Amino acid sequence: MSTSSSVNLAPRVADLRPTAVNAILAEVRALQSAGQPLVSLMRGEPDFPTPPHIVAAATRAAEAGRTGYPDNRGELVLREAVAEKLQRDNALIYRPDTEILVTTGATFGIYAALMALVHPGDEVLLPDPVYDAYQSPVRLAGGVCRPVASSIIDGRFTLTPEALEAAWSPRAKLLVLNTPWNPVGSVASTAELQVIADFCQRRDLLLLTDEIYEAITYDGHRHLSPLAVSPALRERAVLVNSLSKTYSMTGWRVGYCAGPATVIQAMYLILAQSSRGPATFLQHAAAAALTGSQECVGEMVSEYARRRQQLLAALPEVMAPEGGFFVMLDLRKWAMPSHEIQRRLMQDYGVVTVHGSAYGPGGEGTLRVSFASGGETLERGVERLSLGLRELRP
Ligand SMILES: Cc1ncc(COP(=O)(O)O)c(C=O)c1O
Repeated sequence: MSTSSSVNLAPRVADLRPTAVNAILAEVRALQSAGQPLVSLMRGEPDFPTPPHIVAAATRAAEAGRTGYPDNRGELVLREAVAEKLQRDNALIYRPDTEILVTTGATFGIYAALMALVHPGDEVLLPDPVYDAYQSPVRLAGGVCRPVASSIIDGRFTLTPEALEAAWSPRAKLLVLNTPWNPVGSVASTAELQVIADFCQRRDLLLLTDEIYEAITYDGHRHLSPLAVSPALRERAVLVNSLSKTYSMTGWRVGYCAGPATVIQAMYLILAQSSRGPATFLQHAAAAALTGSQECVGEMVSEYARRRQQLLAALPEVMAPEGGFFVMLDLRKWAMPSHEIQRRLMQDYGVVTVHGSAYGPGGEGTLRVSFASGGETLERGVERLSLGLRELRP
């Protein structure tokens, strides 16, 4: 057998990068094994246990023998639950038999949609800054990422019609939208969604709408799907969502997509060559999560709202998020690379954040702080952050 250094890897691998969180995690582990105690306000990983009625549904399904291969489109009971949820929460009608696919987290939904839609050389428009796990699958699909520059207007990040137009070229094929928007926390308004819908129609673009933070909004902001604002988008859009954040189920790896039947069929073929979907008994529990009482979601969101207030009260640099469980610290006046600030906060003050530039050049001058973990972690993290920011400020 050849040694690893002599293995000629497929060229597609050279374009793939770990996410910022995974890269920082490797540094965190190295520092921790050298004995440095760190407090992490980095990950988008809710610290709540999965609600007991969902765990009980998984146990019941396993005990009832739901342990064989799943239907690769998703167990019918879950596709029906997704259809019910989309109608109830998003005012969207999708057929469970042909227009819904169950995926291994939103991550696989994003991958399958891009693999099904992007031709080699197509340009994919990505908001800048944005969640940094869209770029690698765009490249795997042979696409080219084009940033759409964001603006900060009235203390919130937004995409203007001018920025969308400036990013467009005749090679542009698809726009990715994430609302509520990781990392910046904006929840797109009806007017903003209308601008995006008009742009997609006028420029004949497909839309991938990632709505994974939909349940977590604050101060009267409410998530709206672009598809509800502009039903004409339906034929050119794939909606991606998952149970990871809403129900604190990140490790269960259950997500779903809705879209036109031909696109869902293509995504199903891609899924059938690879993951084949989440475990059967977990799909039954996911159906119980979507169709059961949503009280547990309200309780978690109330706790996130308390944590958000805690950060707003403690750190004057915080830009108040409208949704999600991250805040951005606005340090643009410091005129220092955000990666440098991130490194010093981690190494000298023992608190882990993510530099805004990890999410694109538009995030430069900011830091992303997660309040997905609360309690003592958040308390100690905020203390260290306050001290670090006070002492590092130029
Ligand atoms: C915007 C966004 N989309 C997708 C994902 C991936 O979600 P999942 O756990 O469902 O794969 C994340 C995870 O952090 C995210 O922030």
